[in-house]
Amino acid sequence: MINHFGEERFEHGGAVVPPIYQNTLFTFENWDHIDKAFSDPINNNIYTRGNNPSVTIAEKKLAKLAGGERAKLFSSGMAAISAAIMYCVKSGDHIITLKNLYGPSLNFINEYLKNKWNVGVTLINGEDVEEIEKAIRPNTTLIYLESPSSAVFTIQDLSKISEIARANGIKTIVDNSWATPLFQKTLLMGIDMEVHSCSKYIGGHSDVVAGVVIGKKDHIESIALNEYLLFGGKLAPFEGWLLTRSLRTLSMRMDRHQSNGMMVAKFLESHPKVKTVRYPGLESHPQHKLAKSQMKGFTGLMSFELHTEDLDKIKGFVNVLNYFKIGVSWGGHESLIYAPAISYLREMTSEAFKETGLSLGVIRISVGLEDSKDLIDDLANALSKI
Ligand SMILES: Cc1ncc(COP(=O)(O)O)c(C=O)c1O
Repeated sequence: MINHFGEERFEHGGAVVPPIYQNTLFTFENWDHIDKAFSDPINNNIYTRGNNPSVTIAEKKLAKLAGGERAKLFSSGMAAISAAIMYCVKSGDHIITLKNLYGPSLNFINEYLKNKWNVGVTLINGEDVEEIEKAIRPNTTLIYLESPSSAVFTIQDLSKISEIARANGIKTIVDNSWATPLFQKTLLMGIDMEVHSCSKYIGGHSDVVAGVVIGKKDHIESIALNEYLLFGGKLAPFEGWLLTRSLRTLSMRMDRHQSNGMMVAKFLESHPKVKTVRYPGLESHPQHKLAKSQMKGFTGLMSFELHTEDLDKIKGFVNVLNYFKIGVSWGGHESLIYAPAISYLREMTSEAFKETGLSLGVIRISVGLEDSKDLIDDLANALSKI
């Protein structure tokens, strides 16, 4: 129960909704008081780049929800992800991560850290635990995962991988944005830290960009003192306040995303113009059993592939939709549609795109909180036009 957790209302004048602490610094009664605050800068309100009560309340709720000791909120998912990764590696270390990782996370590891920090990287599929064991080197310090993974929604066996990592003295991080800490408790499966883009389901209203790292106190406090304070990627008080608002309805929203998501996935799977649906909640997902064993629920983000590769027909399908708005991101109240080909075709021709083995007909949808019948009618109408 996180709805009231961490709010300590009588410290905020009894306000049923905590106030927004819109201030850069905190003042002290005397020398001794500020001196005492400096003895624990991670846990005291001194300067808003370090701590702010409007952010701390949301951090407490997130840590509780994930079963972690501590959480630190950042200005975006990428700020949280890059800080958590930098905490785990130094120049000359080696990271194992997924080929199908969220693009900017992959670029950060496989380009930025590799080229600027001389960090070794091994990319894996992640479905086969033995493949991970084989990739371990003496200098491996981090296994960075995302389950389900972006775009293709494959699952990694988090308990087994965390066991192997621990036995080899390697830290583990999971991007848990898809499942949320409500549906997947990675820390209870032995993972060291989980990261989220709170811009997705945790925020849920498409009105806040934020990120969080959750884990044991010693890990998070070290990140708070170094990567967080020094790089300065702090969350604004108003955005912390918005996340507290969002967390009050997370479980209701996720129930609806899940039931709408399942209905849409089943509809698409049964449609003759759809070749495949990638959604871990479907029994036809190749890793459905593993997904069910480590997640308590499924959400509303999935991809599917149309039979057609005719770009004009695919564009027509996307453009005729009414409720599914065209846009990046996902996890908000509104249904969204995005085709990976939109990004790729900016860099290559359709012919070159086909040669990569990817299909023009792959579409990603984020199923929102609308009436499921409206969403299915919208998709049925658009599919009938292909
Ligand atoms: C799986 C995943 N992780 C992380 C991020 C990055 O989060 P943010 O956009 O909040 O920086 C995204 C954003 O799309 C994402 O899809």
